[in-house]
Amino acid sequence: MNIPMVDLKRQYENLKSEIDPALLQSLSESCFILGPNVEAFERETADYLEVRHALGCASGTDALHLALLTAGIKPGDEIITTAFTFAATGEAIRYLGARPVFVDIQADTLNIDPQKVNAAVTDRTRVILPVHLFGRAADMDELQAIAEQYDLLIIEDCAQSFGSRYRGRMTGALGQAGAFSFYPSKNLGAYGDGGLISTNDDEVAKQIRIYRNHGSSHRYHHDVIGYNSRLDELQAVILRIKLKHIDEFNQNRLRVAQTYNRLLADTELELPAIPDDRDHVFHQYTLLADNRDQLRDSVLSQKIACAIYYPVPLHRQQAFADTNTTALPVTDDISQRCLSFPIFPEMTEQQVETVCEAILDACA
Ligand SMILES: Cc1ncc(COP(=O)(O)O)c(C=O)c1O
Repeated sequence: MNIPMVDLKRQYENLKSEIDPALLQSLSESCFILGPNVEAFERETADYLEVRHALGCASGTDALHLALLTAGIKPGDEIITTAFTFAATGEAIRYLGARPVFVDIQADTLNIDPQKVNAAVTDRTRVILPVHLFGRAADMDELQAIAEQYDLLIIEDCAQSFGSRYRGRMTGALGQAGAFSFYPSKNLGAYGDGGLISTNDDEVAKQIRIYRNHGSSHRYHHDVIGYNSRLDELQAVILRIKLKHIDEFNQNRLRVAQTYNRLLADTELELPAIPDDRDHVFHQYTLLADNRDQLRDSVLSQKIACAIYYPVPLHRQQAFADTNTTALPVTDDISQRCLSFPIFPEMTEQQVETVCEAILDACA
């Protein structure tokens, strides 16, 4: 059986009767840039995320960039973050000439380790940038305590955590700003690129509105050099529909993860824990295996997808070669042992069983 990492076609088929007429309606209105659907989506998302402002932009990478820009980040500033993430987290820091200071992660959560953050603070540190990796929130209380102690800002990379709560509060509502991605395979995915910044800060929101639209607050009047980084109206149409289903999508992801954990419980594999005090919205189902490459090859040979997120952490990437880092032994170890398996809301129990059989075969 062919089992993909995600099945966007099946999701579209399920939503087709809602999406097609809404797209046609928007086409007939022909208001393509910052139109009524973007405005409505921003309002609905702000409500959903329990923040004062949600501002669409062109991608998750831009969301990080704009969040850091409006935090006043300048060349030479240091941003403490994780190297076990997608390149965009580090790129956005680099766009501003700032320096990513990569610290190690926790072996059990794969998220940034607050103790390592504490040790990395210098007088140039401005921001702590946790990534809620794979849909599980980082240890925000501990990070917040450090931020308060040293007067730092927190900017959350929520690209993988849409709808994930930490101790009752939404990720994206826990720092100065949250940066979301609507890349098609994300928990809330568009049909192209898209992103969003969440914030409770009125001034940050005002600045982002200006920066994302060529530095302009009034048409053809440009206050600052800005960017062309707007969420597309047609993407907003799709996202508004999917937003209504996001909780159900995330619950289904959890169901799939629970089945994986149950069927693989008797193996030597290290399975992702499902925490009590926060959600895990399972953007990825990622386990740790000592014989990772062998397991991957065996599963792939049965036409079942699996993928390594992330094989090369940022501190070992050529693009970040000029970033001084201390040793990151946990990050290095995890990048050698991590393997992600198919997970998507429409995945059937039978599909999960088939994947598990292939894993168990490989482990036998
Ligand atoms: C952790 C993380 N940060 C940032 C991004 C960047 O988002 P985008 O691809 O929408 O630019 C992604 C996803 O691709 C991501 O996974």
